Amino acid sequence: MPTNESTPARYYLTTPIYYVNARPHLGHAYSTIVCDAIARRKRALGVDTWFLTGTDEHGQKIERSAEQAGRTPMEFATAISAEFRGLWDRFGITYDDFIRTTEDRHIRGVQKLFSALQERGFIYKGSYTGQYCVSDEAYVDGPPGTYCPDCGRLTETVSEENYFFKLSAFERKLLEFYESNPGFMVPESTRREVISFVRGGLKDLSVSRTSFSWGIPVQGDEKHVIYVWLDALANYITALGYGSDDPADQARFAKFWPADLHLIGKEISRFHCVYWPAFLMAAGIPVPRSVKANGWLLFDQGKMSKSRGNIVRAETVQEVLGADALRYFLLREIPFGQDGNFSFDALVQRYNGDLANGYGNLVSRVVNMVHKYFGGVMPDVGVETPAEVKLRESATNVIADFAPAFDDLDFSEALKSLWLLVAEVDGYLTANAPWKRPADRSEADHALHQARVLATAAEAIRIITALVYPILPESAAKVWKQLGQGDIEAHARNAFLTRVTWGGLTAGTPFGEPAPLFPRAEKDAVERMQNLEDKNVGTAVDAVSGNTSAADAAPAVTSAPHAPQSALGVSPVPASPELAAASAHATASPSVVSVQGQLAGTVPHSPAVHAQIEGKLTEHTVAPVDSGSPVAAVHVHQVPAELASSRLSTTPIPAPEGASLQPAEAETSPANEQTQHITIDDFTKVELRVAQILVAERIPKADKLLRLEVDLGYEKRQILAGIAQYYEPEKLIGRKIVIVANLAPRKMRGLESNGMLLAASLPDGAPVLAGFLEEVPLGARLK
Ligand code: MSP
Repeated sequence: MPTNESTPARYYLTTPIYYVNARPHLGHAYSTIVCDAIARRKRALGVDTWFLTGTDEHGQKIERSAEQAGRTPMEFATAISAEFRGLWDRFGITYDDFIRTTEDRHIRGVQKLFSALQERGFIYKGSYTGQYCVSDEAYVDGPPGTYCPDCGRLTETVSEENYFFKLSAFERKLLEFYESNPGFMVPESTRREVISFVRGGLKDLSVSRTSFSWGIPVQGDEKHVIYVWLDALANYITALGYGSDDPADQARFAKFWPADLHLIGKEISRFHCVYWPAFLMAAGIPVPRSVKANGWLLFDQGKMSKSRGNIVRAETVQEVLGADALRYFLLREIPFGQDGNFSFDALVQRYNGDLANGYGNLVSRVVNMVHKYFGGVMPDVGVETPAEVKLRESATNVIADFAPAFDDLDFSEALKSLWLLVAEVDGYLTANAPWKRPADRSEADHALHQARVLATAAEAIRIITALVYPILPESAAKVWKQLGQGDIEAHARNAFLTRVTWGGLTAGTPFGEPAPLFPRAEKDAVERMQNLEDKNVGTAVDAVSGNTSAADAAPAVTSAPHAPQSALGVSPVPASPELAAASAHATASPSVVSVQGQLAGTVPHSPAVHAQIEGKLTEHTVAPVDSGSPVAAVHVHQVPAELASSRLSTTPIPAPEGASLQPAEAETSPANEQTQHITIDDFTKVELRVAQILVAERIPKADKLLRLEVDLGYEKRQILAGIAQYYEPEKLIGRKIVIVANLAPRKMRGLESNGMLLAASLPDGAPVLAGFLEEVPLGARLK
């Protein structure tokens, strides 16, 4: 059995490889930035590090996206892959290799792995009939009509002759492996889920497909292409050189495999912690040392993703606040492993508080004073007083605390302790005021005082800067120069993090010129980022597709979050001309991100939208309830009550299960409603559509909630509605209703809800579902 011991002399880490059906967004940037910070720290500790990232380019999902864009899969994949790579380059991501699964070196390696599995008797031919989720490229248990448990989309029935991998043979071996390698899966929740999945029994896995061709052919049986997850997972070894005859490749593979860390998103842990080690064990290749799962970056409580239309691009943050601001925010704000909210407000608040007013201001004060009082040369500290001793001890403690926290991927804690030191140095400067000579202090004594205080503060800044370098590489490089330390990258190559001890900044060192680090973000920063998002709906993908109309060129926006998506984000062609117009309108309008931004109160409010979508927010935006009013107000049920308050939240949020399902409380009556106008554009951002209820049933242990399956004509979806106390489920079946179709999906009681019903709300709180007297086609948009 391969071992799990760590070899400190070298370190191999990987990001997941990104699907090329969607342009990169902050969710992708998150894993890549985490890996980059780890890689930078490892290198600066003198560890021979190899950092791999890349793109996952095969499979039915990509083939369909390319087809919709009117391009070959290869043209399509090449354009999006270049977008990912370009983004990482703009962000200064220090990857050592970028693999594309369409490269020859990868194809060769995957075919070798497949043959090895065949030769060792772990692959056989059989036939498969069952459900497949094209979006996740995953087999799903259940009858036709089953929704994917991971993404909530309707699965497709596939019936094919396939090659199968004997996964069932690895049940016991995997459990033994997990048992003897407790550090293999992190965090604990992932470990528990994976172990219980394997304990539940492993079935053999279909590892080839014949119903499409965009993949790596099975040698000797070319109508089969290799299952995309077997293909994708193999990138971690093919990029090193597995399958190559070149001695240099073989040496790299021998040197860096097994990987020390596969960093992944939590939803792909089954593939990495079950299938991947099983494939490797079967092929006689050592298994990776650890798989660590990050949580999701949420925007408006939903996982940031193209299909939900709630993405934010990393470039937008970079353009307004800089790449380091994003790196700092993601690593400081979200304890690794947990989900965390992203909002522009929280980002700007952190930026101004911690970077502009905190670290940046501290550096600027000290460097400027060294220039002003000592001609830009590091003064001699002289004799320490208790205040300097205390600061030196704090810095020494922080050096000791930072490393284990960072190495446990607890970046948030590591940064928190470092910023306590920033605050302490700031307080020390203020308390010792080197800029002010008290009347009872001689000029000579004051010069000694100034030297002592500024030398101590500058040394503390040097320590902070060295430690924060992997997280804020651009800014640390600037500060390093200002402290007269030269090129921080050269120091990193020279393992400077192994020598971070107090006293490295020697007297007489000439400082560099002061230069601004983090200019304070002004009030309009949030608006500027939102505007950039709204403007930037087009991408390189549009160039691939050749589409030029705004409606076609809006990959970030979807009018129907769960409809199959092309890489252009265009929903499937709607059934009626009216729907076509509605769909085009939806895709051409500013992205959902901007709607959400408005709801977050960061640009002028749209009170009516608040009132309709999130009842609780109406407390802040419309007049109080007139409970005596006989007039019913339009009101949406199935309102997640915590949405309103947590929208601006900057802290990690708890899992949404068990959210309050109470109907919204604050309502409006025309009698006392303040007239706050919205524009037509505001209104069109809310996609109201006609749907028919196909299934309605109660949910065990949720008295207020009904589970509905509704038909929009072009897709079916599940909605949870808080109307169980008012409607008998059986009486709802067949009824045509109005839903908010473009609301980010969310989970309640473990079930995903994709949309909201519209209902009038009577004074006693009873809902009356909105409906129509005339015939209306399913999916028709309300305008
Ligand atoms: N291609 C597969 C991975 C194959 S690895 C052998 C895949 N691709 S993906 O593009 O859908 O996702 C890549 C990674 O990005 C995943 O780890 C996923 O969790 C991460 N993220 C995508 N959106 C995310 C957020 N909103 N938040 C955090 N990470 C997210 O899965």
